[in-house]
Amino acid sequence: MRFFSLCIIAAARTALVSAVAPRKRMLMMVGGDLDDYNREIFELIISNAGGSNSTLCVIATNGEDPCCDPDSSWVFYQQLFTGYGATDVKYINIDVNNSFPRSHTGNAYDPAIIEQIKSCDGFWFGGGDQTRIMKAWYDNNVTGKLNTRTPTPAMTALLERFEEHGGVLAGSSAGTDCHNAKVMVTDGDSYSGLVKDTVAYNYSEGAVDLDDGTVTFDPNGALGTFSYGLLDTHFGERGRQGRMIRLLMDTLHLPNGYPIGFGVDQNTVIIVDKDDPSHAIVRGQAGVTICNVEDASTTQWAGAWSVTNVRCNYATPGDTVHMTTGTISFGADKTALKGRETAEQPYTSRDVFNSPKNPSTTGSTHEFVLQATSLFNSTATTSTGLTFETEPKTFAVRMTKDDRSVAYQGMHNFNGTLQSYTSYMDLVVDIFALDTKEALSMAFMGGVTAERAQIKGTIAAARAPREDK
Ligand SMILES: *[C@@H]1O[C@H](CO)[C@@H](O)[C@H](O)[C@H]1NC(C)=O
Ligand SMILES: *[C@@H]1O[C@H](CO)[C@@H](O)[C@H](O)[C@H]1NC(C)=O
Ligand SMILES: *[C@@H]1O[C@H](CO)[C@@H](O)[C@H](O)[C@H]1NC(C)=O
Ligand SMILES: *[C@@H]1O[C@H](CO)[C@@H](O)[C@H](O)[C@H]1NC(C)=O
Ligand SMILES: *[C@@H]1O[C@H](CO)[C@@H](O)[C@H](O)[C@H]1NC(C)=O
Ligand SMILES: *[C@@H]1O[C@H](CO)[C@@H](O)[C@H](O)[C@H]1NC(C)=O
Repeated sequence: MRFFSLCIIAAARTALVSAVAPRKRMLMMVGGDLDDYNREIFELIISNAGGSNSTLCVIATNGEDPCCDPDSSWVFYQQLFTGYGATDVKYINIDVNNSFPRSHTGNAYDPAIIEQIKSCDGFWFGGGDQTRIMKAWYDNNVTGKLNTRTPTPAMTALLERFEEHGGVLAGSSAGTDCHNAKVMVTDGDSYSGLVKDTVAYNYSEGAVDLDDGTVTFDPNGALGTFSYGLLDTHFGERGRQGRMIRLLMDTLHLPNGYPIGFGVDQNTVIIVDKDDPSHAIVRGQAGVTICNVEDASTTQWAGAWSVTNVRCNYATPGDTVHMTTGTISFGADKTALKGRETAEQPYTSRDVFNSPKNPSTTGSTHEFVLQATSLFNSTATTSTGLTFETEPKTFAVRMTKDDRSVAYQGMHNFNGTLQSYTSYMDLVVDIFALDTKEALSMAFMGGVTAERAQIKGTIAAARAPREDK
């Protein structure tokens, strides 16, 4: 009796579901360090999956032992999603079989797991190391031929499920990076990206991270669901603008190169409806940097790699982003800064890329964005910041406003309080090395400290993360 009534309920529910419009295909790319309290983002993941009764599947492939192994990572996310109201959270137990004393590799071929994938309304990819997800979800050694890059049945099932059924494909940090369709960044910092060539490696050839800051990338891309541009995370907090610009320039000519990049800040998300990518939205704590190198060119300056005429935009909560052009429609709650700028000298950063070597700014400010915002908030037309590192060269980052450049500021609710957000478009960026004399004279220029405290008010210190290269 009970069995039959359950069947009837199930049948009725199926009928109801098929009567409503098919689910949208939503991408939610979080920039890492998604905080437990970020109710807005967790609730958006659940609602984009179809609501609290939909099936949310957790993928913890990228987790690393000992602190963040996949099983603990799964329990962590299960508790979070359940806490925000999800009633059906499942574990997709697929992992790369490396040194950790446990094998999940074969699970990408396990029919039971594949059936489970076919029941998911939403997928959540946790943080970790993006190359691990590639190793576990692609078979790179089919018939003994290395780097064959054949999708495993689990990967095929996941992509088909999302394409045909809709729902949400969400991730944070490495769980965001792994959605890249083309070039996927795998490691490195901005300063190293300026002084050294970027390096392509194929993860399946057993390449290991150089761990010396070199910017590395996988030229073959990743899962392929995010196809609008180079995707990067922990962006403003780790000052990854230099690494993005260098990688865009170095790969532009490749079949898999992009002219445009999207860098998502921590605890922040960009939400893209795959059927309407001209209206992506930004939510969360900070913003998304979008740099375009279509009109940029590289040159040698003071004996080092330099680039001119990059255009960068910054979208914050409330704005709409056109994913194919990278242009921003500023939120209705923002107004133009033009006409209400101050006469003060704009802030010029001495560590414009938040160097990992500088303990006083790392993770706690967004130097590049601070400097850009300050320029837009002043009547000056140009300001120049410097890299923290000076050996072998100090690099200057010159920001310029021209007649296309525009900034909007407004208040937006974050975490229960109204905060001031400034977005901008068409900031012109040039990066070039200085010779020693120039570097010294610039380092003594004024205007550095005054505005800093005010501007950085909205940006909280980041937690020290292990995730994402
Ligand atoms: C979820 O399912 C439960 C039990 O079937 C039901 O009571 C509840 O109304 C559903 N919630 C939503 C949001 O559909
Ligand atoms: C996974 O690794 C474990 C321990 O290193 C090993 O015993 C096992 O055979 C591996 N499994 C596969 C499928 O390679
Ligand atoms: C690739 O597969 C072949 C046999 O199918 C095996 O002998 C070889 O060790 C594998 N290589 C790697 C790197 O796993
Ligand atoms: C690695 O990837 C690059 C770029 O796609 C390709 O040219 C190269 O042949 C690959 N190496 C191997 C061994 O497949
Ligand atoms: C612009 O500068 C003034 C004066 O320092 C400050 O009060 C204001 O908050 C700044 N506006 C923005 C958008 O940064
Ligand atoms: C967000 O709100 C929670 C609780 O209200 C608080 O503990 C946390 O510090 C806040 N975080 C930020 C970044 O404002």
